[in-house]
This record gives sequence, C-alpha cells and structure tokens, in this order.
Amino acid sequence: MRRPMVAGNWKMHGTRASVAELIEGLGHLALPSGVDVAVFPPCLFINQVVDGLEGKSISVGAQNSAVESKQGALTGEVAPSQLVDAGCSLVLVGHSERRQIMGERDGMLIRKFAAAQACGLTPVLCVGETLEQREAGQTLEVVGRQLDSVIEELGVGVFAKAVIAYEPVWAIGTGLTASPQQAQDVHAAIRAQLAAKNSEVAQGVRLLYGGSVKAANAVELFGMPDIDGGLIGGASLNADEFGAIIRAAGN
Ligand code: PGA
Repeated sequence: MRRPMVAGNWKMHGTRASVAELIEGLGHLALPSGVDVAVFPPCLFINQVVDGLEGKSISVGAQNSAVESKQGALTGEVAPSQLVDAGCSLVLVGHSERRQIMGERDGMLIRKFAAAQACGLTPVLCVGETLEQREAGQTLEVVGRQLDSVIEELGVGVFAKAVIAYEPVWAIGTGLTASPQQAQDVHAAIRAQLAAKNSEVAQGVRLLYGGSVKAANAVELFGMPDIDGGLIGGASLNADEFGAIIRAAGN
C-alpha cells in the first residue's frame, strides 16, 4: 500500500507576516496519521517555516534547487546540501512554471534531480502537457517523454526515492481540473511506463495529481487507484482548505 501524500506548493506567495499566519493555521490542523504532508514555501521563508512547524509532522521542501549538490560559486542559486542543512527533505523538480517561464529543459532538470538525490532530498518530478498538446492528442507522449528523459539518463531505480506529480498545465491555477478519469488515465500510463522497466519501483512510487485541487474535488480525485495524493497550489495558502484536502487523502 502506498502512503498518500498531500503537498502544498506556495509558489512566489507570502510575506513574513502572512507566512506566520499560515504556519499558525497549519499548527492547529488535526492531521490524519496515514497521510504524509509537506509544504514548499519560497526559499526565503524556509527557515521560518521549519522553525514554526517544529514538532508538527509536516515536511518542508523547496520549489527549486541548483544543478550542483554542494555549495559553491553559483550566484542566485541554492544548493541541495544547503536545503538539507536548513531542514528540507524534498524539492520540486521541473514544475511547469519553471519549464515554461524560466526555460528549464530536460537536461537541466535531470542534473537538478540527481543533485538533489545525491544530498538525500526526495525530488518531486513534475510532468504535464499544455492545453494545445492535450487537444492534439499528445498528452501521453509528452508526459512519457518528460519521464523518459530522467529514466534514460539516471535509470528507473531513482524513482524508488522520488515522487512524481502529474500536473496538466491547463489545469494549474485556472480553476479547471482534470476529471478524475482523465487524471487516472495519465497516472496509470506513468505507472505502466515505470513498470515496463521495474515493477517494484512502479508499484511503490507515489503519483500526485496537481492542478486546481480543492477540498471539493479532492475526494473524487484521490479515490482513483493510481492517484496517491496531490500537489496543491492556490488552495494550500489557506490552512483550513489545505487541511480539508489532507483529510480527503486520509479517507
Ligand atoms: P494550483 O497549482 O493548485 O493552484 O492549480 C498547482 C501547482 O502548480 O502545483
């Protein structure tokens, strides 16, 4: 049985004051014991969040990390080893906003993935198609290629210690959600792709769905056999809403 995970991606949101409020809200949540919970604050607030959530079983991750695992001369970047030192255990790799807006390509993402794992961070590899690609019937091909680039370079075994998030770009921050069946179809394809190389890894890896997940649609999504939880953007900025999504994963 895979343990469900619900992770909050705060993106580029927050001030010290609003983060303090969110930490307080999270602190009051009664968390179901069967769900892994994580938050990904902006890097600037990681220390504040790690300190503020001390004693609460919520993991902290970063939204991005450098291509090199160790600290060094790389202006503007944060090394995975520094994230570990700050108390992080996870890092997002290849979120569509970084692929599309920051121009991150598979080659760079593979390096980031490997550097993170080399430091003991769990990478959360984000994959997903654009609306244009979906309408052209290319969803499985696009997602398959994004996943394959990592498998080819690093081997399927790296997914024994990683998480995959399927996030259709057209569903992110738009209020449009993939239907449970649409999401399930892609999740099943991802798992089958991994299974073709290593069935144990495929059965063990957690596949999160992301894209306008809310308390109102979480139960149905998380009820699908290959959806093991969610990566939550907007709704994770509200502790009560995030808490309701976490409970949905616990059912
Ligand atoms: P959203 O974002 O929940 O606001 O759609 C999800 C994500 O980008 O991780």
